[in-house]
Amino acid sequence: DIERDEQIYNSYEKLSSQLPILDDWYPLTLQNYQSFWIHPSQVPSCMAVQSHFNPRPSDILIVTNPKSGTTWLRALSYATLHRHSFSISDHPLLTTTPEQCVPFLEGLFNYHTIPNISVLPSPTIFSTHLAFSLLPQSLDCRIVFLCRDPKDTFVSLWHLVQRLRISSSTEDKSIVELDFNKAFQLFSQGISPRGPFWDHVLGYWKESKRRPEKVLFLKYEEMMEDPVSHLRKLAEFMGCPFSMEEERDGVVEDIVKLCSFDNLRELEVNKDNKGSVESRRLPPSSFFRKGKVGDWVNYLSMEMVEKLDAITKEKLHGFGLSF
Ligand code: A3P
Repeated sequence: DIERDEQIYNSYEKLSSQLPILDDWYPLTLQNYQSFWIHPSQVPSCMAVQSHFNPRPSDILIVTNPKSGTTWLRALSYATLHRHSFSISDHPLLTTTPEQCVPFLEGLFNYHTIPNISVLPSPTIFSTHLAFSLLPQSLDCRIVFLCRDPKDTFVSLWHLVQRLRISSSTEDKSIVELDFNKAFQLFSQGISPRGPFWDHVLGYWKESKRRPEKVLFLKYEEMMEDPVSHLRKLAEFMGCPFSMEEERDGVVEDIVKLCSFDNLRELEVNKDNKGSVESRRLPPSSFFRKGKVGDWVNYLSMEMVEKLDAITKEKLHGFGLSF
């Protein structure tokens, strides 16, 4: 019902237009919607997801904070779920970006129509940055949450925004530099895309403790340390465990290799010269920078490290979560 959808979206746009806009992370402007910072173009779609996203129990929702490994988890979950349909040498991930393989939920709900999820193959994997408290209350599908040390998440975010600033800069050169200290202050205050970082993580952490069969909580650092055993865990959780035969044939290792940073980054499709169909503001290569654990040592001062660690301790340690 096109007219009904149009009305729904108009009301969301009206609501979101009343929220104040913060420009400090320009061009990633932010609005505070129900305690989380969201880009204004995505606020109406978040509202639509909240009220109208109705996945099937078989579907899988992968959730991340921006810059926490979304691309990697998209690739791994997609390759694992569809491993019987494709061979590694002729795999969609060799010619399609991970973002195209696993749709972004906020993107699907961004066209002034409520998408009909039931026509999609079952199970379908969706990706989102929505905080747990912003998901529909009745959500029944499995959720995989991947988080990353806030120090590395912040450094990765700063680089991305810096890159976006340079590529979107026109005559006004004064906006080009995203002051590192200022960005750090904002991030630690909880003002960052989809932040507060710690509240975002905690929502899923608590839910993974409450309903471990429905919410799998993963850490980027642990996955980097031992991707093979984490992929086994992921496959099991998604309801498609690797068989003895697959284990013997090295399928797990093959998928890990296919989805590795070094492999994906070198593919033509993930470089910028390939004319991506996605928003030009986020070219595929902006999702592949260094792919390392602990790159923060090259950017954060001692005080900054202490500050972020102290916030993590204060907000998360009591719940048994640390980085
Ligand atoms: P760095 O900026 O620290 O390199 P997201 O996908 O959520 O935007 O996260 C991007 C971060 O994940 C970037 O971190 C990027 O390099 C890293 N990344 C992308 N693909 C990866 C992969 N296949 N394996 C590990 N890290 C990856």
